[in-house]
Amino acid sequence: MSAATSLLLFGATGDLSRRMLLPSLFGLSADGLLHPDLRIIGTARSGLDTAAFRAMAAQALEQHVEAERRPPAAVASFLDRLAYVPLDATQAEGYAALAAEVGDPCRLAIFLSTAPRLFGATITGLAGAGLACAGARLALEKPLGHDLASSRAINDAVAGAYPESQIFRIDHYLGKETVQNLLALRFGNILFEPLWNATGIDHVQISVGETVGLEGRTDYYDGMGALRDMVQNHMLQLLALVAMEPPARFDPAAVRDEKVKVLRSLRPIGPRDVESHSVRGQYDAGAILGQPVRAYADELGRASDTETFVALKAHVDNWRWRGVPFYLRTGKRMPERVSEIIVQFRAVPHSMFGDATLKPNKLIISIQPDENIGLRLMTKLPGLGRDGLKLRAVPLDIGLPGAFADVRRRIAYERLLLDLVEGRQTLFVRRDEVEAQWTWIDAIRAGWAETGMQVKPYPAGTWGPSQAIALTERDGVSWHD
Ligand code: BG6
Repeated sequence: MSAATSLLLFGATGDLSRRMLLPSLFGLSADGLLHPDLRIIGTARSGLDTAAFRAMAAQALEQHVEAERRPPAAVASFLDRLAYVPLDATQAEGYAALAAEVGDPCRLAIFLSTAPRLFGATITGLAGAGLACAGARLALEKPLGHDLASSRAINDAVAGAYPESQIFRIDHYLGKETVQNLLALRFGNILFEPLWNATGIDHVQISVGETVGLEGRTDYYDGMGALRDMVQNHMLQLLALVAMEPPARFDPAAVRDEKVKVLRSLRPIGPRDVESHSVRGQYDAGAILGQPVRAYADELGRASDTETFVALKAHVDNWRWRGVPFYLRTGKRMPERVSEIIVQFRAVPHSMFGDATLKPNKLIISIQPDENIGLRLMTKLPGLGRDGLKLRAVPLDIGLPGAFADVRRRIAYERLLLDLVEGRQTLFVRRDEVEAQWTWIDAIRAGWAETGMQVKPYPAGTWGPSQAIALTERDGVSWHD
């Protein structure tokens, strides 16, 4: 696929566009990573013109890009790339004006950051205006449906105009440096792979904690909840990257073939297992970093049974992972913002030190806010003693910002937008992956519904209800805090 010469941005005046997409595109433009001729055509319902859209973009850059990273000349040349065409996505006749702005429709990238209910009409409009040529590529932002059936309906509508090889489904976690680093760590080193299985690993933990609450996303979030907002996509992608077999190449087919095998091997958690394998929580009033925060129901303005926290015990039913639990937890209003993966290795089979303090190795992959890879190793405690060696666990840390101090850290959307424009699909999610993810999530939700499993309250600023602790403690495992 040759690089696109036009990028069509649907939802161009929205929050994601202002916070992430325009600043990311600016970063790529300022660093000379975009083709000098690439034009960015924003579209949305608002009746702006190009000048007003450029003014909006300039303001977004001021708000979201640090001053030293936006020299006036770079900003001016970025704004020059921008054009704007107002469009009511449901009205077919508006698309001709859009097509007129697009140069070569076969070198076109389209980014849909709009409500999914508009996807169908938008695809029809694009195809009708000749914007579904074989070289065009289409990126879709979440949410791609709210269950398997609705996700299939969206995928079918899109497939009517664009083949899978032209569809770029976004999971922004795949654009994060540390997430890609997981691939480097697993498949660029010989050290881990021989132990990366049920013989070497006791369990895996994946935690994504956020301190924010609803953030004004009332309708969207209350209709989704943590399971569908975070686990269905980001956390299952992380799990798949941890658990997959080594792909033969870093290419879209090889990597995604391996991920989908993992997702399809997830053991269903149905009505019989939801009580023992899942926990649903909702935050009550509490405090975060010393600041009082309101309960979810108060923020929402009404009572709700939506979970703002979920913890799960998952299994990947294949040879490699037999009997190894994957504990997942994510929530809003947690004590800190932290995303990390913990790989807990098994204990040595026999300790010649007879030392009760001997701890199994642990690999800690911190995704955010710190980007760090830490390995806990046992070492000798320095000093003399008459009763044998004393050992202590010490961390071996690679702080990535320190190790690569000379390289600027990129935000996820910079990676993903560059790959979209240049046509690389590896870090985008394939249809079969999304559908395997929904299949697993739908079974959990059906189990919750069938057993009437209610949300358990937890004070804001804590790691969820006490049942989440019991979930792992029953297995003799503690969450890594
Ligand atoms: C989004 C969710 O997909 O990811 C949000 O809809 C969540 O609810 C966000 O806050 C988290 O992303 P990040 O990059 O801040 O971890």
